[in-house]
Amino acid sequence: MSVPTVTLNDGHTIPQLGFGVFKVDPAETTRIVTDALEVGYRHIDTAAIYGNEEGVGRAIASSGIGRDDLFVTTKLWNDKHSTADAFDAFDESLEKLGLDFVDLYLIHWPSAANDRYVEAWKALEKIRESGRARSIGVSNFLVPHLTRLLAETDIVPVVDQIELHPALQQPETTAFARERGIQIEAWGPLGQGKYPLFEEEAVTAAAQAHGKSPAQTVIRWHLQMGNILFPKSNNRTRMAENFDVFDFALTTEEVDAISALERDGRVGTHPDEVN
Ligand SMILES: NC(=O)c1ccc[n+]([C@@H]2O[C@H](COP(=O)([O-])OP(=O)(O)OC[C@H]3O[C@@H](n4cnc5c(N)ncnc54)[C@H](OP(=O)(O)O)[C@@H]3O)[C@@H](O)[C@H]2O)c1
Repeated sequence: MSVPTVTLNDGHTIPQLGFGVFKVDPAETTRIVTDALEVGYRHIDTAAIYGNEEGVGRAIASSGIGRDDLFVTTKLWNDKHSTADAFDAFDESLEKLGLDFVDLYLIHWPSAANDRYVEAWKALEKIRESGRARSIGVSNFLVPHLTRLLAETDIVPVVDQIELHPALQQPETTAFARERGIQIEAWGPLGQGKYPLFEEEAVTAAAQAHGKSPAQTVIRWHLQMGNILFPKSNNRTRMAENFDVFDFALTTEEVDAISALERDGRVGTHPDEVN
């Protein structure tokens, strides 16, 4: 079954399920992304800071998959928010990826203490105008950051990529973003394996009822909540497992029971602490 797409506020579409490469060893990235593309993923989420854009690019180049059948995201790092640095960093990312354009370019963190994310966004607006990033968005932006960006710049981000899983659903940010046409991308969708999400009764009961694994159940919860996600796995069997989620649906009661796992359970760093 094919992966559903989400239409962004600029008219472009994004596959709702992709593959993320945070902490994928640069030396292993080509093999791992090649596996992911063979499994069927067509949406890859990387970042300059991951140090593995070249490996992603090599896997894409050797895949034989048409460029228009792929969706590639990369991100601007925090120390590159000045206009000149943002342009240079973008050029470098494109070169490492070996691409003429990316589908989505994100500001990785607001890095609010540096107070340059508005400047960085204006650079991204120019990059979008050039056609070398088809869409632009943000990551780890909370309501105050989004509010300021919307007040001081012209283009509304297409997405906000934030930590989101059943234990941390960020209702304030997601509601604010969605009301303004900004789609939510969930990073750490499986809780990064850092807390025992897969042992929660709400997850195991639904998994058992559908003959699916806990990971598939959590991915299905995200899809039904309307989140865009790109779980990471180094393991081809788990990649395939995470992709095999389109032949069942959770009931409303199962979705609600998993949503009730909310407990402000952040596993990553708070955006205010990343600069
Ligand atoms: N914007 C940001 O600041 C930000 C921050 C973090 C992440 N991200 C993006 O979001 C993507 C996903 O988040 P993430 O990689 O941090 O965490 P994640 O996808 O929630 O979790 C990855 C962990 O779950 C394990 N796993 C994957 N599939 C599994 C399965 N079916 N059963 C059991 N364990 C499984 C993986 O181990 P194995 O590899 O051994 O399978 C890995 O340890 C990243 O790769 C990156 O693209 C963005």
